[in-house]
Amino acid sequence: MESQGAKRGAGELKDGVTGGPSKRSRPAPSLPTEASLYAGPFPFYRRPSELGCFSLDAERRYHGDSRALRYFAPPPAHGSAPDFDLREGYPERYRPRNEEIREGLDHLLRWLLEHRGQLEGGPGWLAGAVVTWRGHLTKLLTTPYELREGWQLAASRLQGTLYLSEVETPAARAQRLTRPPLLRELMYMGYKFEQYMCADTPGGSPDPSGEVNTNVAFCSVFRSRLGTHPLLFSGEVDCIDPKAPSTQPPACYVELKTSKEMHSPGQWKSFYRHKLLKWWAQSFLPGVPRVVAGFRDPEGSVRSFRTFPTMEMFELIRSDREGWNPSVCMNFCAAFLSFAQSTVTQDDPRLVHLFSWEPGGPVTVSVHHGAPYAFLPTWYVEAVTQNFPSPPKTSCPED
Ligand code: A3P
Ligand code: MG
Repeated sequence: MESQGAKRGAGELKDGVTGGPSKRSRPAPSLPTEASLYAGPFPFYRRPSELGCFSLDAERRYHGDSRALRYFAPPPAHGSAPDFDLREGYPERYRPRNEEIREGLDHLLRWLLEHRGQLEGGPGWLAGAVVTWRGHLTKLLTTPYELREGWQLAASRLQGTLYLSEVETPAARAQRLTRPPLLRELMYMGYKFEQYMCADTPGGSPDPSGEVNTNVAFCSVFRSRLGTHPLLFSGEVDCIDPKAPSTQPPACYVELKTSKEMHSPGQWKSFYRHKLLKWWAQSFLPGVPRVVAGFRDPEGSVRSFRTFPTMEMFELIRSDREGWNPSVCMNFCAAFLSFAQSTVTQDDPRLVHLFSWEPGGPVTVSVHHGAPYAFLPTWYVEAVTQNFPSPPKTSCPED
């Protein structure tokens, strides 16, 4: 392994790319993350459009359809106050996904293989694009404001396309393996809220008696562009609102969230500074227009709702000098993509540039070959290089 990582001071870089090479000591490339460096005007962001979708079932098997999509079914607005016990069913009716299984981009790659012949924009468009998960982009957007959790993103180029796939940091792994029981239950509660708020059919009623199985997911695949960077990314969508004014995705999608009930202006301020930033970044990227939040009491029951329109979230923090700014988030993400595009120049699916970031420092890069960092699966690389024959048959006999 050859390491290029080195710390640099903020402001040394322009456009996220290091200056000209010097024969004696070529500086290791790095990208600063201080918010003040990215406070320019909001960059171009193409209105996201949905290219397609796929579903993962209770056994985490892929299906190239929308079978896992659920329908927004909130209690009547003028009925009595909600009383959703989010701890009900825990732990006996909880089937959490096996987090030891590293899926990388595999499900998205399978979708891409099945659709690359029909992509709008043609194969040339994909050759210039960045392919990744929405969640990875969310982490990039929030980086200039993140004080606690670092990240690592592995990058490989194949037939021009730049693929980005997150690597679990040692700290994140250690935290996951020692996750306290209370945190595990809190995770369950977020999914349980979805069960109370969603039905399996349009106009149907939620059924909170079933199990909460986090293997199940409905994922939408989006196309957008940030600055000069065409994007193809996928993200899990909580539900579709059959009563939404627009039936066109993503305008009809709803993101569900839970949070603690707040009782003081100080608590709201902290919520707007930290949690709302993450909610905004997650929903803004795919163009999901609203987040419906359930606020839980100390016993874990949702007692009230509030809808946050994604495009109005910034208004809640705009006047706070210690708040966040969407322009900073998007400008930093664009700078990172430029940095990655100019760093990963070789087209080689086994070559990995690992971008690493810890709060307080710049993004650094190290170079690796093959295992354990290479993440583009052989079945994908072979199919793409052999001119896109059909994807492999996997353990999913019924589709
Ligand atoms: P809430 O965040 O609503 O409480 P999402 O909102 O992204 O659809 O995720 C659904 C639920 O998954 C979350 O509910 C939370 O319970 C759990 N979850 C998602 N990301 C998590 C993370 N990084 N750490 C812990 N739990 C997470
Ligand atoms: Mg959600």
